[in-house]
Amino acid sequence: MAQKAAGRGSGSEPEEESREVALEELSGVGSTTADKLREAGFTDLMELAVASPGAVAEAAEIGTALAQKIIGEARRLADVGSFESGTILLERRKKLGRISTNAKSLDELLGGGIETMAITEFAGEFGTGKTQVAHQAAVEVQLPASEGGLEGEVVYIDTESTFRPERIVDMAKAIGLDPELALTRIHIARAFNSNHQMLLVAKAQELAREKPIRLIVVDSLTAHFRSEYVGRAELAPRQQQLNRHLHELLKFGDTYNAAVIVTNQVSSRPDVLFGDPTRPIGGNIVAHAATYRIYLRKSKPPKRIARLIDSPNLPEGEAVFSLTGEGVRD
Ligand code: GTP
Ligand code: MG
Repeated sequence: MAQKAAGRGSGSEPEEESREVALEELSGVGSTTADKLREAGFTDLMELAVASPGAVAEAAEIGTALAQKIIGEARRLADVGSFESGTILLERRKKLGRISTNAKSLDELLGGGIETMAITEFAGEFGTGKTQVAHQAAVEVQLPASEGGLEGEVVYIDTESTFRPERIVDMAKAIGLDPELALTRIHIARAFNSNHQMLLVAKAQELAREKPIRLIVVDSLTAHFRSEYVGRAELAPRQQQLNRHLHELLKFGDTYNAAVIVTNQVSSRPDVLFGDPTRPIGGNIVAHAATYRIYLRKSKPPKRIARLIDSPNLPEGEAVFSLTGEGVRD
């Protein structure tokens, strides 16, 4: 099992990403330390370069002096990037788009809607509305800006075969969009496994060069990863791949000024996972990468409660919305 874990991602298969410097190549980092680091979320050089010695020491169970040395080397080797002026950042922020969820309360919780150039995660138990919210956003994004959209098209990566064109038709009709046209603007791909799922993000880039893609949905982000990487030994490689996937999604969002919606099922069955069963899977990897995390739970039908957790710039809070035949409503 451990051998398989070590082989994944750093194997002999010729793949583009293999040019990345592996953590094991840093002096003082053996395979055990590298695995511990990855498990704690330090999956690449950049992550190490910006970490504190204390955090690295704790994660890898090493002394702070060695942690300091590892960080120093990661800084030398990582492509830390160059400076951007505040003006450029401000210009970039001005370009930010927002997609309405069609529920005012939920939009407000998100600071005005689902933001582009960011990852928004919807986590929750089965039936809490993750897929419905994703469907709704896939319709809303097509509206003009004055009505809460971005006049954009959608890439929808469906990992559990839960995409329903009929729902799109209902939701489109209800907000005055031509349902046929709405469906032609949603580009759906079924992902058969986690590798395929990651490959589809690369495919999406090709599509985005031709079509105004302003939203990419991955529903579910974690299901394949969860079923393919089972057990302790698989945790580090799983987190590493998930991290890479999330970074590619974020890069997609940045490049095309698109919103990224990912869903994440939370299991209440303690036998399904090790660790805290009520926490979204992917742990701190997803927590780091997702800009906005919305935790959904059921209330009196058809009501759902959304809670914003760990947002860098928005107050924590809750919103109530409903799942109706016509889609997401206040
Ligand atoms: P999992 O993918 O199983 O984790 O669940 P999820 O969070 O994606 O749940 P989903 O978005 O599929 O929500 C399912 C719920 O949406 C149902 O229990 C219904 O309450 C509601 N729903 C789905 N379709 C319809 C519909 O056509 N009409 C109405 N009124 N409600 C619907
Ligand atoms: Mg779903």
